[in-house]
Amino acid sequence: MIFNRDFLIIAHRGASFDAPENTMAAFQLAYRLKADMIELDLQLTSDGMPVVFHDTKLDKKTDGTGLVNRYRLNELKMLNAGGWFSGSYTGEKIPTLSEVLDWAKGRILVNIEIKPEAVADNIEGGIEEKTVSLVKKFEMENKVLISSFDYRVIKRIKDLEPAIKTGLLYHKNESKGAEYAELVRQYDADFFHCSHREVREKEAALLRNKKIPFLVYTVNTPSLMKKMIRFGASGIFTDKPGLLYRISQEC
Ligand code: G3P
Ligand code: MG
Repeated sequence: MIFNRDFLIIAHRGASFDAPENTMAAFQLAYRLKADMIELDLQLTSDGMPVVFHDTKLDKKTDGTGLVNRYRLNELKMLNAGGWFSGSYTGEKIPTLSEVLDWAKGRILVNIEIKPEAVADNIEGGIEEKTVSLVKKFEMENKVLISSFDYRVIKRIKDLEPAIKTGLLYHKNESKGAEYAELVRQYDADFFHCSHREVREKEAALLRNKKIPFLVYTVNTPSLMKKMIRFGASGIFTDKPGLLYRISQEC
């Protein structure tokens, strides 16, 4: 059991096939589609506010241009974060982490993925401290999973607050050929996250034998969903949580 469930339906950037990714509309739709957890990407504004946005640049997913971290929160809040997806979403704004946690509390679990671009060498006042402090403010320590491709983040989060679960997002270049289970142990993580391309029957069996829960991204087809469930994944990140809900009921 993880987060009191046998299997997690994780809405990748929200229900991002049917609504603009990383917006409140996508998170609310994921909830309506019965996702257990939403995944979001986290970065810092130039004035140090944690905001939910995937790309380092604003250009593709808003009507702004340039790097997210060059703008203050009040400037980012003026942007249209939904129009690129469809005219009916022009009212969507870039959410802050605080806004998402405030909405998610009592509704849905949250996977906060801290983007490596937002990580500084100094943890003090950095994105890790800010994230943990918000999670504590909303008393969501047991409702949140924090992950990152930057392995330092995983360790720092545990040092700051051991009660918060962490997921090591596998990154080949950071791993120096180490085995998956060894990385999880080394960075004191609770979960192993990887692309569906990085887990075959053999790796899945090794993780299962070591009782390390693993979560796989980003899986959007029924055949791949079924395969990952057969491999024993504890959860799947998908842009289509409604589809995964139906498939997981069948399996
Ligand atoms: O956390 C899983 C997945 O979101 C990692 O890749 O680029 O979609 O953030 P990306
Ligand atoms: Mg992500």
